[in-house]
Amino acid sequence: MNKTFAIDVVDGLTAKDKHLSSKYFYDDNGSRIFQEIMNMPSYYLTDSEFEILSLQAKQIVEALKFNQPFNIIELGAGDGFKTFKLLEYLVNTHIDFNYVPIDISEEAINILSEKLHERLPELSIKPQVGDYFEILNKKFQGNMPNLLLFLGSNIGNYLKDDAIALLKLFNKVMNSGDKLLIGMDLKKNPITIKNAYDDKDGITKRFNLNLLVRMNRELEADFKIDDFDFYCYYNPETGRVKSYIVSLKKQTVFLKKINKTIAFSQNELIWTELSKKYSLKEIEKLAHISGFQTKQHFLDCKHYFTDSLWQKE
Ligand code: AVJ
Repeated sequence: MNKTFAIDVVDGLTAKDKHLSSKYFYDDNGSRIFQEIMNMPSYYLTDSEFEILSLQAKQIVEALKFNQPFNIIELGAGDGFKTFKLLEYLVNTHIDFNYVPIDISEEAINILSEKLHERLPELSIKPQVGDYFEILNKKFQGNMPNLLLFLGSNIGNYLKDDAIALLKLFNKVMNSGDKLLIGMDLKKNPITIKNAYDDKDGITKRFNLNLLVRMNRELEADFKIDDFDFYCYYNPETGRVKSYIVSLKKQTVFLKKINKTIAFSQNELIWTELSKKYSLKEIEKLAHISGFQTKQHFLDCKHYFTDSLWQKE
C-alpha cells in the first residue's frame, strides 16, 4: 500500500502488460493539468457535481438527519473548491459543524484553507495533510457524528475489488449512523463519455504523458515524450474508460536512478487509468457489500452524475 514511486514503476514497466497507477498523475504539474481538464466544457463531471452541490445542498443536509454538531471529513479535498457550495449553505444557515479537508498535497490544502478563510470567515476548518491510509488507520474519535466526503468520482479509478476494500476501510473507521457522500459518474450516452476523456486539444494526453515527464525528472529516465502518444476508449458494456500511453516505435528507455532499461515494442501500451461509470443499481450493490445502506441519490438535472448518500449500518 505504501510502496514508493520507484518500486511501482519497476513493477509496472516490467510486467507483461505494462501499467502505471493513475495516482502518480498528481504531482504539482499533473495537478495543474487536472485543473485544466476540469475547466474543459467536455469534462462534464465537474459541472454536474457542482450543480448537485449548489442546487441540492439543503436536501443533502436534511437527509443527513444529524440533529447535533457534526464533522465533515473530505478525502482528497484538493484546492478545487468543489465543496464550497455545500459549506456555504451550512455556514449561512448557522448549522454547527467542523470541516476537515484532507489531501496528500500540502500546497493544495494551504490554497484551499486560505480561500475558505477569506470567503467563509466563520467556518471552522481543521485541515490535514496526508494520504487516505494514514488518516483511516483509526476509528473516528469523539461523539460527534461524521459525514465523510469522497467526491469527484475518485472511486472510479479503483478496480472492483480495490474499490470494495477502500469502501470497507471507510466503513471500518466510521461510527454507526455516520454518513458517506460519494460522487460517482453515471453510465450515459457513450459519445458524451468518450468526449470527456479523448479531448481534441490534447489536454488529457498531456495529463497522461506527464507520467513520463515525472519519471524523467524523479527517476532520471530518458523517455522521449514525442515518441509516445495517448489512447483511450469507453466500453459501454462494462462502463469502463481505459487510458493508455502508446509507444510509437520500438525503443528502449533507461531509468538511471533505478538502473533499469525498459524495452518497448512498436505500439506497446502502458495502461494508466481506469475511470469507471456506474448504474444506480451497481452503486446500491457496492454500498451493500461494503456495509452501507443507501439513503438517497442526488443527481444533476441531466442525470450524468450522482452524489449518493450512504449510511454505516
Ligand atoms: C479525478 C479520477 C475522477 O477519472 O475522470 C480526468 C481523472 N482522468 N481525465 C477521472 C481524469 C482523465 C478523473 N478523476
